[in-house]
Amino acid sequence: MSAGNTGVLISVVLAVGYITLAILVWSMVSAVYRKIRGRSRLNITGRWVVITGCDSGIGLGLVTALSERGAKVVACCYTEAGAHGALAAGAAWAPHFDLTKDDATREVAAQIHARSDGAVWSVVHAAGTVLPGFVDYQPINFYRDVMAVNFFAPVLLTQKLLSALRRCKGRVVLVSSVDGIVSLPGNAPYDASKFAIEAYADALRAELSFCDVFVSVINPATMRTPMAEAFFPAHRNTWQAMAKDDPGGDWQALWPESWLEQYVEKNTQQLRSIAEDPAAAVSDVVHAVTAAHPKLRYLSGRLAKTFFYALWLMPEAWSLRIKRLTVQPQPPRNSS
Ligand SMILES: NC(=O)c1ccc[n+]([C@@H]2O[C@H](COP(=O)([O-])OP(=O)(O)OC[C@H]3O[C@@H](n4cnc5c(N)ncnc54)[C@H](OP(=O)(O)O)[C@@H]3O)[C@@H](O)[C@H]2O)c1
Repeated sequence: MSAGNTGVLISVVLAVGYITLAILVWSMVSAVYRKIRGRSRLNITGRWVVITGCDSGIGLGLVTALSERGAKVVACCYTEAGAHGALAAGAAWAPHFDLTKDDATREVAAQIHARSDGAVWSVVHAAGTVLPGFVDYQPINFYRDVMAVNFFAPVLLTQKLLSALRRCKGRVVLVSSVDGIVSLPGNAPYDASKFAIEAYADALRAELSFCDVFVSVINPATMRTPMAEAFFPAHRNTWQAMAKDDPGGDWQALWPESWLEQYVEKNTQQLRSIAEDPAAAVSDVVHAVTAAHPKLRYLSGRLAKTFFYALWLMPEAWSLRIKRLTVQPQPPRNSS
């Protein structure tokens, strides 16, 4: 190599080194800046916060956490027993109704306007449902039922509260899932509903930015709540529902009941070992509601920040291989 070429090579290496160093320094400085900025909190005493899904899990945890910070919490529950629990946890009001009944939602929204004098600081959509199963044995109405709770319900309630949120320059917080950024097999209706809410959040955020209403999305990984605990055993209900809809169909040879039992047993145990404390998701929602500078997105829990984040960013061909590995044991045809 000539002296001239060596000089060019050294210049290129130095330039790449300086650029890499500048990117690293910039990333570190902006991470520290975001951390410091994120610490600044608002006083939410006396502000109205509407939360759905307060019978249990993340929603109920939020009732306690936000009531303790002085918010006037409207805890939307499904059942009367859930409403009693939410009141005991500090809620100012706890209506119980089915979020998939549009008239009931409209009626509750009207009452919220009346109680809050039309000034709502935040709405947190924590209600959710999951009906797991592989696509061969998912009855079509299961997709509709999941979309009704996870997508249409938050869309309608948000719309009915918009004027009160605009008045406060408030917050909309949508509890999505890691399944809203990465679809795993065996849960297509839920995955689709969470991807739908992500698309809605994206559009909503841009539209509401004109009136300073902020939209955050929360993506929890598996958390120890009633929903997660019932997840794998619920595959049996879906399988049985399809067995009624289509008895003796081809799908039964592809997904035999003997395989289903092994699948449920093995994965129920595994889920117990990876499920995290829902306090992580609760803390992220509290930040979204109370921080002076909330984040657009919160990846809640260790697995969300590592495994699912990597799966989200990697090339689709690679993530497909990993997604296939999550089906354990594989149904008989794949192992033959
Ligand atoms: N746990 C996880 O691993 C996990 C992971 C990612 C995302 N998420 C999301 O986090 C949110 C909270 O879930 P969670 O884990 O706290 O589960 P959860 O304890 O089952 O809470 C969901 C709540 O939604 C309520 N709900 C369901 N259908 C309803 C309806 N038609 N009308 C009114 N309320 C209804 C449930 O009431 P009932 O209890 O009376 O049915 C329950 O209180 C959900 O959006 C879920 O998708 C959870």
